[in-house]
Amino acid sequence: MTDIIEKLFRTGDLTDGELEALIETEDTEAAALLRERADQVRRESYGDKVFLRGLIEISSFCRNDCLYCGIRRSNKDAERYRLSPEDILACADEGYRLGFRTFVMQGGEDAFFTDSILCGLIREIKQRHPDCAVTLSLGERSEESYRLLREAGADRYLLRHEAASDELYGKLHPAEMSLAKRKECLFTLKRLGYQVGAGFMVGAPYQTTKHIIEDLRFLQELQPQMIGIGPFVPHHNTPFADEKGGTLGLTLRLLGILRLMFPKVLLPATTALGTISPTGREQGLKTGCNVVMPNLSPVSVRKKYDLYDNKICTGEEAAECRGCLQRRIESAGYSVAQERGDAAGFFTGNDDQRRNT
Ligand code: 5AD
Ligand code: FES
Repeated sequence: MTDIIEKLFRTGDLTDGELEALIETEDTEAAALLRERADQVRRESYGDKVFLRGLIEISSFCRNDCLYCGIRRSNKDAERYRLSPEDILACADEGYRLGFRTFVMQGGEDAFFTDSILCGLIREIKQRHPDCAVTLSLGERSEESYRLLREAGADRYLLRHEAASDELYGKLHPAEMSLAKRKECLFTLKRLGYQVGAGFMVGAPYQTTKHIIEDLRFLQELQPQMIGIGPFVPHHNTPFADEKGGTLGLTLRLLGILRLMFPKVLLPATTALGTISPTGREQGLKTGCNVVMPNLSPVSVRKKYDLYDNKICTGEEAAECRGCLQRRIESAGYSVAQERGDAAGFFTGNDDQRRNT
């Protein structure tokens, strides 16, 4: 395993057979070496900086019906809410006061949020806080919509591909959704000049090592600036209620592998990782992660943005989440970055993901 990890560290790539062995190993020495190399590479690219992204969950209405997701339209027990534009702007103002320089507007695919409403919101946030980046995470929209939102000032877009295998994608989503459409959206977003985030769930039902290798190969093709992965966590009101969740060990191995394959990528230690283990996010940071996304949503709606069971941070005020995460980052040996935190090299026209060694 040592040779495989050192090869990944040196060259940033492995054969499918080597990846399979590394993804599946339960060896603790391998885990320790992978963590050490991942941390070395993240420090070469980003030092000890961790970027904070203020997450505003703008709507729990969703027209989609992904089988894993607690806010799928078939979940009649889900409590639905949407924030008003005034609520959203108030969250951004509060976030700015707390030191955030990126706001992520995330939500289900909710027809209320038309291009015109969203463009108005983006322009207003940018006008009030010109030194901030605006990230959108609002699912699949038309090319025209993505273009208008970009022109209004949106900088980044998060759209997990969820599964790069057609077969697995089909088992996780209803028939009306397709991987081809998802990929087309991602390439369109890139072409429009967004910094793009893709990603997948770890340990989703039916997922095998071969599927995960397909995810890694797809990410190599897309070359996103951000990669979001987290463990699958079952939600009690979905068809996957009784399925097993993703494990901490596999999620950490994949985070380490991603850091070595994509030395400059922005890699969040996700809320789902913090949900399956009290020290999940700290362990993620030590295994290559360089982003955390504290919740900025009003406390009154947090429990309703209910993607999976036992989601953390649903009772805390924004300031508490901010303070809690700062302490966690520092206890893990890193420091909070003060700037927007664009992907290394993104504005220099250097999109090359390889290391400079
Ligand atoms: N467990 C973990 N992650 C989930 N997501 C949705 N449902 C779940 C779940 N049950 C993730 C999806 C989506 C993101 C917003 O949340 O990957 O892209
Ligand atoms: Fe698809 Fe929520 S129903 S992500």
